[in-house]
Amino acid sequence: GLPARVRIHEVGPRDGLQNEPGVVPTGVKAEFVRRLAGAGLDTVEATSFVHPKWVPQLADAEQLFPQVRDLDVRLPVLVPNERGLDRALALGAREVAVFASATESFAKANLNRTVDEALAMFAPVVARAKAEGLTVRGYLSMCFGDPWEGPVPVEQVVGVTRRLADLGCDELSLGDTIGVATPGHVRALLTALGDAGVPASALAVHFHDTYGQALANTLAALQYGVTTVDASAGGLGGCPYAKSATGNLATEDLVWMLHGLGIETGVDLGRLTATSVWLAEQLGRPSPSRTVRALAGA
Ligand code: HMG
Ligand code: MG
Repeated sequence: GLPARVRIHEVGPRDGLQNEPGVVPTGVKAEFVRRLAGAGLDTVEATSFVHPKWVPQLADAEQLFPQVRDLDVRLPVLVPNERGLDRALALGAREVAVFASATESFAKANLNRTVDEALAMFAPVVARAKAEGLTVRGYLSMCFGDPWEGPVPVEQVVGVTRRLADLGCDELSLGDTIGVATPGHVRALLTALGDAGVPASALAVHFHDTYGQALANTLAALQYGVTTVDASAGGLGGCPYAKSATGNLATEDLVWMLHGLGIETGVDLGRLTATSVWLAEQLGRPSPSRTVRALAGA
């Protein structure tokens, strides 16, 4: 069966904007986060405390976070290492995410580390964050395919997921970073993870819509028991260190499907669409979301 309610983990301000070529003013980002919260999204991933040279768009994390931290929503931020955690803690962040890769190629491209070195880098981050009472998410990228390595074996993904879970992450988000997954592959991975002792209740899914499969993949995950789904308002996004990645699953497309299935989200689709139309005006190009275009009549 399907869940009665799904928690949407909104990643637009982080995953969506991190790939934008033109620098988006900090005030626009803060307004984006506020509007998303106002549309009923209760988890809005706000920014990343990564090296500013690696993701210049998010170099203003210190300026942005204080502008949004008093909102009454969960505001997770990405931290790759202890330096990132220090920066996030100094600003009062209550929720952080580390981000591993199932493949060596992307670990190198995204973190300048091997998979083992990246996990070793995260271990003290997760331990310290948990000791401070924070909620910790562990992302795992390239769970289905990798631009350099091709299809990624399920056993390889299960192995790294297990190790990430063992670090003490509260939730694991399975990323189809380049959007190549199909529903049968999703079912196969979730089943293998269940067999390895990682239940659906510990998982979130993070689909990109490169091949138009994100909603079908989401439905397969919901049928398996997953109830947390990552999405990006207006379908913004990509990944700066994975060239073939296009936008994330659009939050509006997700909400349209979920509400049609009678699944609660707490999201006001009209306000969310208006937010994406507003942001598209700021960025100077239309939203790629089919639902935004249909509802906004654009
Ligand atoms: P590195 O070059 O190996 O860094 O980068 P290092 O550890 O050798 O340190 C070099 C210098 O950087 C030092 O300064 C550090 O202090 C400084 P120096 O002593 O030379 O003056 N430094 C920092 N400064 C500020 N904040 C920090 C920080 N860390 C070190 N946190 C590093 C390693 C991890 C830092 C780098 O590779 C990095 O920042 N990577 C982040 C890349 C990124 O954000 N990618 C996008 C997110 S992942 C994603 O989008 C996928 C996801 O959406 C899921 C999916 O779709 O699959 C999550
Ligand atoms: Mg992503």
